[in-house]
Amino acid sequence: MIQKPRGTRDFLPEEMEARRSVEAKMREAARLFGYREVCTPEFEELDLFTLRSGEGIMQEMYVFEDKGGRKLALRPEITAAVIRMYINEAKVAPKPLRWCYFADCFRYERPQKGRYRQFWQFGAELIGADTAMADAEAIMLASEALNATGVTWDLKVGHLAFMKSLLAGLEPAAQRRVMAHLDKKDFEGLSAILAGMGKPDLNDSLTSLVECRTLAEAFEIADAIPEKERVEQTMGILDAAGVRYSLNFGIARGLDYYTGMVFEGFAQNLGAENQILGGGAYRLAHIFGGDDVASVGFAIGFDRVMVSLGEVPVGKDTIAGIVCTDEGRSFALSVARQFRNAGIRAEMDLMGRGLGAQLAHASKTADFAVVIGKREADAGQVTLKDLHSGEQKTLDPAAAIAEVKAYRTC
Ligand code: HAM
Repeated sequence: MIQKPRGTRDFLPEEMEARRSVEAKMREAARLFGYREVCTPEFEELDLFTLRSGEGIMQEMYVFEDKGGRKLALRPEITAAVIRMYINEAKVAPKPLRWCYFADCFRYERPQKGRYRQFWQFGAELIGADTAMADAEAIMLASEALNATGVTWDLKVGHLAFMKSLLAGLEPAAQRRVMAHLDKKDFEGLSAILAGMGKPDLNDSLTSLVECRTLAEAFEIADAIPEKERVEQTMGILDAAGVRYSLNFGIARGLDYYTGMVFEGFAQNLGAENQILGGGAYRLAHIFGGDDVASVGFAIGFDRVMVSLGEVPVGKDTIAGIVCTDEGRSFALSVARQFRNAGIRAEMDLMGRGLGAQLAHASKTADFAVVIGKREADAGQVTLKDLHSGEQKTLDPAAAIAEVKAYRTC
C-alpha cells in the first residue's frame, strides 16, 4: 500500500470543514483591514530563496531541477515570492499595497506534532509604507487574526536595532551566527562562540538585552539607537490600540531579511512547536532587482493554530436525501435542482438502490428524505420525512424547501 510522504497529512471532510471555518475568521480580519488576497506559484527559481532568506531555510528546502535544467525550489515561505511578484507586476501601483495570502509551504524538517514538511501559512505583506504606523498595523492585524480564531497566545515585540548595535563590531557573518543562536535560544552555544571570537563581555550585554522587558532598560543597554523615536512611536500606537504584548529584544528571527521591528507569537498550550506567528519589517525588493521599498509583514502557522485549538465546533449543513423511484426520477432531478438553488445540500442515489434501501441510506446520512414516487411526481409534490423525528408530510417542493430551511435556522 502506498503511503503519503513523511511530514505530510491527509485531511478528511470533517477536518477540512474545521480548517476552513478557522481560515475564514483570519481572512475576515484581513479583509476588514483592507488586505486583498494574492497567490504566487508553489515553486520558484531557487535563487529567490537563496539570495536573502538565510542558512536555516536553505538547508530545509525542497530543491529540484526541471526537464529544462532549471534549478527550482518548493516555496519554504511566501514573503520572498510576494516581493518578487510585486516587482514583476505591481511596482507602479499606488502605495501602500496591502496583500494577504493563505498558502502551503514546504520545509524539509524533522516532522513532529506541529512541525510538518507541508504546512499552511496565513500571512500579510504591507509594501511601501516605512512608518511606525505601518509596523503597528502589521502587528494589529496579526493580533486580530489570531484572536479571531480563539487561540490563547502571547505576543512578543522587539526591534533588531538593539541587537545590531551591540553586534556592530562583528563581521556580518559572525553577526548572523550570533543571531542564529539567539533565534534558537541556545545561550550555551552563544556564550561558547562569543568566547571563541574573543568577545566574552558581549555575552553579558546580550543576555541583559534578552532579559530586559522595558524600553528604558533596552535603551540603556544599547545606547544611541538611531531608530529610538520610531521604536517609541510603534509601541505607543500599539498601546493606544489596546494590543496586548510584551517587549522582547532577544527576538532575532530565523530569516535574514528583517531590518527593524520584529514580532513573534506563542500558543500557550503547545509544547516545543509553540511558535504560531512570526513577522517584522524587512527589505527584499532591491535584492531581487526592484526598488528599495520598505515592507512589513507576518505569517501565522495555520496548522499550529489548529493543533492549539483542538476540536473546533463546525456548523453542520442540513442535508436532504432525494429518494425516488424510476418513474419519479425526472421530477426528482428538478426538485433536487430547486433545493440546491435554495442553498440546500441535496443528494441523489447513485447506486441503483430501491426505495427502501435509499431511505435506509438517507437515514444514516441526511436530515430529511424527500421521497418522490409516481404518485408524488404526478401530483407535482414530494413526501418530506424528517429523519430525526420520523414525522412526514406531503407538500409541494417550495413548501418542502421552506420546512428544510426553517429546520436549518432553529
Ligand atoms: P517563519 O517564522 O519562518 O516566518 O514562519 C512563520 C510561521 O510558520 C511560524 O511561526 C510557524 O508557526 C509556521 N511554521 C514554520 N515552519 C513550520 C513547519 N515546518 N510546520 C508547521 N508550521 C511551521 C516566515 O515564514 C516569514 N515569511 C514571515 C513573514 C512574513 N515575515 C514578514 N512577512
